[in-house]
Amino acid sequence: MNKKIVVIGSCNTDMVVSMKRLPLPGETLIGGEFFMNSGGKGANQAVAAARLGGDVCFIAKVGNDPFGSRAVDQYKAEGIKVEHIGVDREHPSGVALIMVDEHGENSIAVASGANAALSQADVDSAMKAIAECDIVLMQLETPIETVEYAARLAHGMGKRVVLNPAPAHALPDSLLQCLYMLIANETEAEFISGTQITDMDSVARAADIICDKGVENVVITLGRKGAFVKEKGTYHQIPGHKVKAVDATAAGDTFCGAVCVALAEEHTLTEAVEFANRCAAVTVTRRGAQASLPHRNEIE
Ligand code: RIB
Repeated sequence: MNKKIVVIGSCNTDMVVSMKRLPLPGETLIGGEFFMNSGGKGANQAVAAARLGGDVCFIAKVGNDPFGSRAVDQYKAEGIKVEHIGVDREHPSGVALIMVDEHGENSIAVASGANAALSQADVDSAMKAIAECDIVLMQLETPIETVEYAARLAHGMGKRVVLNPAPAHALPDSLLQCLYMLIANETEAEFISGTQITDMDSVARAADIICDKGVENVVITLGRKGAFVKEKGTYHQIPGHKVKAVDATAAGDTFCGAVCVALAEEHTLTEAVEFANRCAAVTVTRRGAQASLPHRNEIE
């Protein structure tokens, strides 16, 4: 059975320049090619989930401009339900400036624009979609107050609330206590747990601390080393896949979308993480955010 997924989050237009290396502060470097691509952590996760077979509704906010309308048309074409994407008349659509080096590592600066106007009232107006879904997936590119409000609401309705705490931000325990699962990379896990991650023991320690704050399950992504899962008191390390990395942008977003699709199909959490590792590995072999997200048939 394919249950519904609601993604609440950001949408951006990404302006990308690929370079041999990332510039230092104050330095100007002549880069390689420029390209424009659809992005935003929320939108990337929604599109990833839809391409992988999820039944997705996206709650977001765009500006009253061509970037916003183009993005919404693209989500529609991906089969995503867009009736809860609002248009903000005071702020432009979100934009991200991205530089990618020759190893696929990136640096990202985001001008949030309309994403910062996603409000509790926007969540209220999508109450029916939330009530009908199984999983609510969020990130931190929209106001933390809205994320916490939606988490409480969805948790109160008995939904599985999944948070990808990106970009890293301090989180109140009251929010963590609403989470079925936190999917964090090492930096985000360090930030939330207050523990430095240096080896697998410290990964487990960080997961323990996060669970002690009230999160039910924790997944810590480890890049090419795969992912660490703490599920109901048991620990698993799921190996990654060796690929030639071209651009890491949206690898984490693919992972989050993929985990939710597999959970919505009633797979176990470890099966979901194995599937998500495969999907994220494909993403890093291609350039861009939404341009790089895989379809289900490629994974199978
Ligand atoms: O996670 C990648 C995304 O982060 C990019 O698409 C960019 O828009 C920023 O939000």
